[in-house]
Formats: sequence, structure tokens, C-alpha cells
Amino acid sequence: MIGSLFRIKRVSDLVKQGETSGMRRVLTATDLTMLGIGAVIGAGIFGSIGTAAVGEFKDGMVVRLGAGPALVISFLLLGGVCALCGLCYAELTSMIPVAGSAYTYSYATLGEFVAWIIGWDLILEYAVGNMAVAISWSDYFTSFLRVFNIEFPYWLTHSYSTAHLDHKLQDLPHLLGIPIAINLPAIAIVGLITYVLVRGVRESARTNNVMVLIKLAVLALFIGVGSMYVDPSNWQPFAPHGWAGIHQGAAIVFFAYIGFDAVSTAAEETINPQRSMPIGILASLAICTVIYCIVGLVATGVVPYTQLGGADPLARVFELAGITWGQAIIALGAIISMSAVLLVFQMGQPRILYSMSRDGLLPKWFSRLHPKHQTPHLTTMLTGLVVAAGAMVMDVNMAYDLTNIGTLFAFLVVCLGVLALRIREPHRPRPFRVPFVWVVAPVGALACLYTMTGLPRTAWERFGIWLAIGLVVYFLYGYRRSALVARDERERGTA
Ligand code: ALA
Repeated sequence: MIGSLFRIKRVSDLVKQGETSGMRRVLTATDLTMLGIGAVIGAGIFGSIGTAAVGEFKDGMVVRLGAGPALVISFLLLGGVCALCGLCYAELTSMIPVAGSAYTYSYATLGEFVAWIIGWDLILEYAVGNMAVAISWSDYFTSFLRVFNIEFPYWLTHSYSTAHLDHKLQDLPHLLGIPIAINLPAIAIVGLITYVLVRGVRESARTNNVMVLIKLAVLALFIGVGSMYVDPSNWQPFAPHGWAGIHQGAAIVFFAYIGFDAVSTAAEETINPQRSMPIGILASLAICTVIYCIVGLVATGVVPYTQLGGADPLARVFELAGITWGQAIIALGAIISMSAVLLVFQMGQPRILYSMSRDGLLPKWFSRLHPKHQTPHLTTMLTGLVVAAGAMVMDVNMAYDLTNIGTLFAFLVVCLGVLALRIREPHRPRPFRVPFVWVVAPVGALACLYTMTGLPRTAWERFGIWLAIGLVVYFLYGYRRSALVARDERERGTA
């Protein structure tokens, strides 16, 4: 029994599977870089930097400390952590260019049990991550409309948990005694993204490229105009809560970096993935780190960091600086940026489920492709439904935390996986090799673990519960139905 938990999918089989999957190879290195930026710049920079700078409080108690203007240090350090992990992703994805990302790499390196845990864990990154983005999208959407004096009722634009945290449950309309809160804008955008994705990846990549150009232009505007209003005295005190604030701030703003790894889920749809994958991952990461550091400096330089709290901090910076014309543009830019994130993540989730189903760990219908568009349409729609439902009940910080802890865990395992494969298959061709791998990978893994420790205890508890549910599902379903059971029986028969 223990032995079969660690059964491994051979790299050669994986590569063969990728070549015969039937998905269309249409994406170039530039498309991947754009996909990376599309996935990375979103709710993290437009939304979570408020909590990362100011901290979080509940009923007058400190839930977490904020970094203050030292947010830029949090960004720099996270850029370093993600670069280490990005290098590991690049090595694995260039060797194993098939859909499934960290899940697939774990299957080839650490065995089925770890692979299942990671596949299950990635639902936190992709689906729960999209719940956070959808909630933040809705916040910016409503502040955009507010510029034009259009107000939606509270119950139509907030989730149940948010209403609970805001102490507004008693103000909501009630149905059979139950308070009703429906985050309608979040549901609408998730529905639209689902529709676009079912139509096909070529169309989606084009849509993404346009959205990425718009988001870069809007952040350039924020930096260009905002820097004229910077007052260096706002950077004092620079790190009001010292290292603890920088650490805890980093643990939440890590959300802003998630996504460069989502590029790897498109490996089966990429032309020349051996070359394009490392370029796509590392280039998008480098570009985003530079942008984040500058945005962090400008945001905390224009207004005192204590005023950055709230759902739409960048728009608020302009509002407080009296740049009202810019406020609407930033809000619109945020809406578009986050739509791109939703698109890439909702493209990633079904592809991971697709891989897990192809391996027998999930039911067969998860890997069914649309007869005309050749997209995993059923799982795309399922993901859309789950994300919309989550956006209706979660509050945004809860969703950020769960996503961050899940993603950091996946990154950690990928760093270990690179080492495992170097030991197990040292001579297999590696189109991209991590330099100084025996330093880069262990330091990357430890850095992920350390970042995780900056998250509040509730995040660890919820993460533990999620993994426990995953174990039950595995032993009830995947353990027996794994495609490797048949493979091993076949090989024993012919031996
Ligand atoms: N990094 C992505 C965002 O900030 C998830 O929205």
C-alpha cells in the first residue's frame, strides 16, 4: 500500500501524452509572457496592498501587522522568492511540457500521493484565488460606477461574509428569515469569462493581450502622475512595525505575484515549449517585480500609508491627492486588469482537473474536450460555477489567505521536485537548467515556508481542513482508479 502511494508517472510517458493530447499548439513565448503578466497584475496590486500596508483589524484587535512604506521591501523580497521558484518551474516545465503544472511535476518526481495533494491544493490557488479576484473586481466596479453617481444596493454587491464583517447582516433583505447578500458584479464577470474560455484558447489569448496592454498603460499612468505628488515625508516612519510588519505584509501581498506559474498550465498549447516556457515565466516575473516596487513607492509616497486601507487603495490614492479625473481611469484599469487575471486562472484550473482526470484520479468526464472548440468545456463551466458561488460567500482577506498558503505550499513542493528529479533522472535532457540548483531549490523551498509563517493561524487551520478533505477523496476514489494501477498490472503481466 505504502509503495503504491509513491508510484511515479514516467517523464517519457508524460511527454508522449502531451504530444498526443489533441489540444492545439498556438501560443508563442510572447503570448506566454503576456499570459503571465495577465495572471500576475491584478487584485494583488490593486486591492491587497491596502491590507499589506496598513494591517488587518477585527473588532479593534490586530489580526496582522502591515508593512507601511516598507511594502517595497516586501515586494523586493517576494520577487526574489518567486524568482527562485520560477527557475524551478522553468526547469520542470521545459522538461515536461504538458498541462497540469505543479501537479504533473509532482507526479513525475515525488509520486502519486504528493501529486494528488498538490492537485487538490492547486484548487486553492486557481479557483479560490479567482474568488478573491472576483470580489475585488466587484469592489472596483462599484467604485467606478460611483464616480458617475450610480449606486447599487449593498446586498447586491457584497458577499455574506463581508456583510458579516461589516456588521451589516441586519440591514440585508431577508428571505424566510435568512439574510440575502449576492455579489452580482462578481457573478456576472465570472459568467462572461467562462463563456469566452469555452469558445477557445486562441480567442482567449488575443483577448488577454489587449487587456495586458491596457493594464500596463494604467499602471504607467499611476506611476507617472502619482510621482509628481510624492511627498518624501510620507515615507517616515519607513517600517512602522519593523520586520514583523514586512513579513506579515509580504505574506498577504504575495497574492500579487501568483500567476507566473499559471503560464506552465498552457504547455500543451504552446509552440516550442522548451524555449518559450522559461522565457514566459521569468520575463513576466521580472517585469511585474519592477512595476510593483515602483507602484508601492509611489502609493506610500503620495498619501500617508495609514490611509491606504480599503478595497480600492490605488484609486483612493488619486482621490485623496485630488486627482479625481485619474480615479475613474485607475478604477477602469483595475477592472480590466482583474478580468485578465480571471481569464488566465480560469483557463488554468480546468487544465489541472483535465490532467488529474486523464490520470484516473478524477472521473473521466473532467477530461472531455468540446467537439468543436477542443477546450475542456465541462470543467471550465464547473470552475465558473464554483468561483461564482465562492465569491458570494467569502470575504476577500479570507480568500487571499487561503490562496496564498495553498500556492506557497505548491511552490515549495516544486522546488523539492526539481531536486528529486535531478537525483532520479540526472541524464535526462533539460532544455533549461536551474543554475546552482542545490542552493536555489532548497533556499526557494525554505523561503516559501517562511512566507507561509507570516499568515494568520486561521489560514493554517482552513488549509489543514482542505487537505484533510482531499485525503478522504483520494482514498475513496483516485487511489483505486489511478491509471498507474492498470499500467503496473500490465507491466507485471508482461514481465
Ligand atoms: N496575482 C494575481 C492578482 O494579483 C492573482 O490578482
